This record gives sequence, C-alpha cells and structure tokens, in this order.
Amino acid sequence: MTGDNAKVALVSGATRGIGLGIAEMLARQRYALTITARDAARLDTVAADLRAAGAADIVSVAADMAATEGVERVLAQHADRFGAMSALILNAGVGTAGALAESSMRRFDKTLAVNLRAPLRLIQGALPMLRAGAAAAPARGAKVIALSSITGVYAEAGLSVYGAAKAALISLIATLNAEESANGVTATTIAPGYVDTEMSAWIHDRIPPERMLAVDDVVGMVDALLRLSSRAVVPNIVMSRAGTDGYRA
Ligand SMILES: NC(=O)c1ccc[n+]([C@@H]2O[C@H](COP(=O)([O-])OP(=O)(O)OC[C@H]3O[C@@H](n4cnc5c(N)ncnc54)[C@H](OP(=O)(O)O)[C@@H]3O)[C@@H](O)[C@H]2O)c1
Repeated sequence: MTGDNAKVALVSGATRGIGLGIAEMLARQRYALTITARDAARLDTVAADLRAAGAADIVSVAADMAATEGVERVLAQHADRFGAMSALILNAGVGTAGALAESSMRRFDKTLAVNLRAPLRLIQGALPMLRAGAAAAPARGAKVIALSSITGVYAEAGLSVYGAAKAALISLIATLNAEESANGVTATTIAPGYVDTEMSAWIHDRIPPERMLAVDDVVGMVDALLRLSSRAVVPNIVMSRAGTDGYRA
C-alpha cells in the first residue's frame, strides 16, 4: 500500500510504442505503476527497466484485454498492491484496417473488446480508487487518459471499425467528465494521426516513419495533461501530422 499522496498509475499496453513511452515518463517521475500487456516475458523486461528508471514500485500483469477475466485480474492486482490510483492510462489497442463492406464480425468483436469494452470496464473498476486518489490530493485530482485516434474524429476510408471504436471511446470519456469531474476525476482522449510504432509499420510504403508523429510527442501531451489541476477539463486533443490537411490519419 502506498501513502495517500503517492502517485500511482495503471498503464495498459505498456510494453511497446506509446504505452511504453508513457510508462517510462511516469517511472522517471517516481510513480508506482501497474503495467499490463499479453507477452509476459516482455513485461518482465520492461518492469525491470522501469524500476531502474525510477518507478517507486511495479506490478506487472500479463493479461489479454479482449478477455473479461484478464481485465478483472489487472484491476484486482492493482487494488491489492496499491489500493489507490492517481492516473489510469487506457492505451492498449488493436489496429484494424479494411473497407467497411468487407469488415468481418470476428475482427469487429475483437476490436470493440480491446478498444472499447476493456477501457469501459477498467474505468468502472478503477473509479473507487480514482475518487479516493482525487480526495487525497484535491488540487491535483485523478486523471484518466485514453488513446483514441484522429480516425475517431474524422472518418477515413479503410479504417471504419477502428474509427468507430475510437469515436465511441471519445464519447465515453466525455460522459466520464460529465459524471465524475465534480469528484476530481477528469479525463481526456488523445486522438493522434499515425504515430511511429509497430502498429503503424504496415503503412510505411505510403507514409514513412519520419512523416509520422513521434512517440515522444504523445508522451509530452500526456505529461502536460497530468500536470493540470483538478479544475481543468480537456475532453479531447487531436494531434495531426505536419504536411497533411489536418483531417487525415
Ligand atoms: N501507432 C499509431 O499510429 C496510433 C495512432 C493513433 C492512435 N493509436 C493508439 O495508441 C494506442 C497505442 O498504440 P501503439 O501504436 O503504441 O501500439 P503498439 O506499438 O502495437 O503497442 C500496443 C501495446 O498494447 C499491448 N496490447 C495489444 N493488444 C493487447 C491485448 N489484446 N491485450 C493486452 N494488451 C495488448 C501490446 O502488448 P502485447 O502485444 O504483448 O499484448 C503493446 O504493449 C492504441 O490504442 C492505438 O490504437 C496509435
């Protein structure tokens, strides 16, 4: 159990890409962290690195966010070890490309499970800890930050199911602010265009990595959001790529 004013975060999808960048930033700020992803071996390596980077404590839970059991286990292990939460980072997500006409229902179910169902359940399960975290640090409050996508704001051909799930996530976070910001729990979706990670490697033939957002651009935005007082609500931030019209992934 950590002290009342300790900074404690849960980061989903913390082993690569944006989630790893966020976890590293939080470790440097001496947060205690619960990290989760499916690959247990990779989680162990990342946990050791985060400890070395300064994390006050680490719980790592190998779990599939597509499975109800996995989501519940992450929540239970975080509650057991820390019993408090100052930041919930909803980052784990799967990419799904393909025309709407050809979208398979199997892919739809998987995308919705990881990108929308798991975030909803993580928010529900974490809310008592977030409210307690906000009550213990009223000026800072507690924050939820969710990785949406620019395709959740501006629809794009070929990204229908992914964009629909990310749009729903923006709506969910807006409702969370309406219901919980008076309790000191505020939430933001970040909606970036392509970010240079493994997830976006499939489109390198059309968009080279140097024309994508950098992981650090998103990490810097998360850092800034976490520094806001509990009086500020920032519902959604669109981050578009330089050189585009601002509406394309
Ligand atoms: N990269 C982009 O261009 C981009 C743009 C806009 C928004 N986003 C969003 O930003 C977030 C992070 O993306 P990223 O590019 O950093 O992705 P990434 O490089 O593919 O990393 C995804 C992370 O999530 C974990 N993960 C994936 N599926 C999971 C599952 N079913 N259960 C539990 N963990 C799972 C992965 O670990 P395991 O594989 O071991 O589970 C990994 O740690 C996602 O929500 C994505 O939709 C990305």
